[in-house]
Amino acid sequence: MIISRLRAVCGVVEPHVRRLAGADMLSGFRTVENAWLRIDDGRIVGLGTMDTMPAPGSGEEHIVAEGAVAVPAFADSHTHIVYAGSRHGEFVDKIRGMSYEEIAARGGGILNSADRLRQCSEDELFSQSVARLREVMDKGTGAIEIKTGYGLDTPSELKMLRVIARLAEATPVRVRATWLGAHAVGREYAGRPDDYVDMLVTDMLPAIAAEGVADYVDVFCDAGFFTPAQTARILEAAAHYGMKPKIHANELAVSGGVQTAVAHHAVSADHLERIDTAEIALLGLSDTIATMLPGASFFLGMPYAPARRAVDSGCTVALASDYNPGSSPSGDMRMVWALGCIKMKLLPMEALCACTLNGAAAMELSDSYGAIAPGRPANFILSRPVPAPEFIPYSYTTPWIDRIFLGNNIIKQ
Ligand code: NIG
Ligand code: FE
Repeated sequence: MIISRLRAVCGVVEPHVRRLAGADMLSGFRTVENAWLRIDDGRIVGLGTMDTMPAPGSGEEHIVAEGAVAVPAFADSHTHIVYAGSRHGEFVDKIRGMSYEEIAARGGGILNSADRLRQCSEDELFSQSVARLREVMDKGTGAIEIKTGYGLDTPSELKMLRVIARLAEATPVRVRATWLGAHAVGREYAGRPDDYVDMLVTDMLPAIAAEGVADYVDVFCDAGFFTPAQTARILEAAAHYGMKPKIHANELAVSGGVQTAVAHHAVSADHLERIDTAEIALLGLSDTIATMLPGASFFLGMPYAPARRAVDSGCTVALASDYNPGSSPSGDMRMVWALGCIKMKLLPMEALCACTLNGAAAMELSDSYGAIAPGRPANFILSRPVPAPEFIPYSYTTPWIDRIFLGNNIIKQ
């Protein structure tokens, strides 16, 4: 298939590029204007400016996409889409003035979702979760990371992992799985967090590893949840099973989560709403990706993580949705792209790089997701006609997706 007369192809990278940091997020994530793009058997096989377009082969499909742009499919590297029911009651409590921490402290929040999930059958949990996955696929997500963390006991965490494994088969979206047993202290261990961590390390982790599905380990290393010492213990135990860390850090306080993540060579440190200058510098010097979640700031009214300063300090910045029932009940990466521009002051192509290539890097999938380049699988979104690529995050609620290419699958809107 050949697509011609594109206004622009965005997210074009050199073949060796797997992530982009600092100023390279703009210079290395190129736009080709007035372009053509050729796809064969689910792969991109050529692209260039219109004056270089080859003649379509006999019988080759030819789409004249006048005024459209192509951007990489979104790579959402931080979600919790496997959950039961919702938490709309807490939404109303928050409007009335309760904070996320107050709701958690009274036994709501994550524990509320854990109660619901424990009562939900695996099939019912799958059916609720696959509806969310299909929804975000239709909104342009081509790869997604999904965490456990609403089970908080071994059978329920295993149930979550089985659902994630089924989700990986259910749609063309590429799925990565993360074990987040340390999302909150389970109710049975209230007031005994160290005993809960003992249980995680000696009982739950071996069972999770035996299931063979979890790519990563995560810990909510933050005020009121798990300390850096507890986090380190879990990460070291998980390392024996080959599970690399991705850490929830500095959402609620300067919590030591960033230092713990970097010391353990975490793939990413996520949230970072309360990060200080020294911690930004530390991340800038490390290989740990700074993943920021503007949807949680939007929904909870928290400060936005300092993405602009992080890029200017040389960090590899990724943006993700954090889709979950408590702090971000939306997995819409179109909105995340727009918030990255509007609230975090990233330029449109920097924010797009953070939502695509660097998100894919935060799932170790960036050889095949997050960029448009000859030789890579075709994972991109074709827009409706737009006046310019930056029109998309500017006009942030206007529908713009025409169709999504995920390998050999084409999802029409
Ligand atoms: O990333 N902060 C910890 N975990 C989720 C929220 C989970 C929930 O409230 O259900 C987050 O924001
Ligand atoms: Fe999260």
